[in-house]
Amino acid sequence: MKIEDLQGRVHDYLRISITENCNLRCTYCMPAEGINLTPKAHIMTADEIETIATTFVSLGVKKIRLTGGEPLVRKDARDIIERLGKLNIDLNITTNGLLVHEYIDTFKEAGITSLNISLDTLQKEKYKQITRRDHFEVLWKNIKLLLENNFIVKLNVVLIKGFNDCEIIDFINLTKALNIQIRFIEFMPFNGNQWDKSKLVTYAEILEKVDNHFEEKTILRINDKINDTARNHKIESFKGSFSVISSVSNPFCSTCNRIRLTADGKLKNCLFSNTENSLLDALRNGESILPIIEENIKSKFLVRGGMENDTEFQNPKLFSKNRSMIKIGG
Ligand code: GTP
Ligand code: 5AD
Ligand code: SF4
Repeated sequence: MKIEDLQGRVHDYLRISITENCNLRCTYCMPAEGINLTPKAHIMTADEIETIATTFVSLGVKKIRLTGGEPLVRKDARDIIERLGKLNIDLNITTNGLLVHEYIDTFKEAGITSLNISLDTLQKEKYKQITRRDHFEVLWKNIKLLLENNFIVKLNVVLIKGFNDCEIIDFINLTKALNIQIRFIEFMPFNGNQWDKSKLVTYAEILEKVDNHFEEKTILRINDKINDTARNHKIESFKGSFSVISSVSNPFCSTCNRIRLTADGKLKNCLFSNTENSLLDALRNGESILPIIEENIKSKFLVRGGMENDTEFQNPKLFSKNRSMIKIGG
């Protein structure tokens, strides 16, 4: 069995959220009042994560990304990374970077070569404002540590109009001396994150700012891989690169190869889909998880959980029924 949906898209990239907890409180990710955490008894154990991941690998999954919440706050994160590091996959992590200094050796031993780090501003005060925590300097030190240890570093920057869109050029200028990839992300609507179209900074607007600042012939478009979420660019002679993840203005659903497993063991075939099927319940009942994976993937919509006709995200019901981002994992 391959994990193939009715549109013929083969899913070989599994994103596993290993915790709903986080040591930050980013405004675009979780509601101000916080979230009701799922009781620990209903969160997958390390054994269960390993069992489910192993089944997915037997079904053709080649890449696994650990997400959260913040994956590295989980007490047995090291154990999970070590176990998944033994599978025949490309293992990746998306993290807020605050704890990576404790995991450098673990990453290396597990074969992790690349980390995606969330960093939405280069200004300490703004970082405090958006994350509701004062940890900018710790993060910046950790980014340098990762680079010194030769990890590939991608910085995820969620752009919010009037807040950090004035830093687009500053972020790109970082790539002059540093071999990092900046990824500007269009702000997406999720439950409780106060999304509004007026806060969206689109791919076109980002490129306009870049065109106005840099000389045209120095702005290079670089090849994306077929399933990439990011459209890649670089400034000639700069060491690093920059990309745009245009989920709102220019979705990449036709090449979607991603399937998600939430920390409470539910399979979610799309970031915007409300259909969830519990693999954890089946596993705990001693049943096969294969029919559930098949059922879940067959119900996948062509575009954004069925929102193909709502390109402007005008119907809030379509996403307010969804989880908040912290409970999905990105
Ligand atoms: P790479 O494997 O390094 O390309 O990373 P990635 O883009 O797959 O993962 P990451 O966790 O860094 O996510 C970056 C942004 O892309 C986040 O805002 C995610 O929510 C978004 N993203 C990741 N996968 C999908 C997807 O399948 N659909 C949509 N719409 N957005 C996605
Ligand atoms: N829109 C776009 N990206 C988001 N992320 C979190 N919330 C949102 C949102 N509302 C990003 C974070 C993290 C990644 C997993 O998802 O920047 O790096
Ligand atoms: Fe895949 Fe859904 Fe993201 Fe589109 S919105 S790329 S279908 S996960």
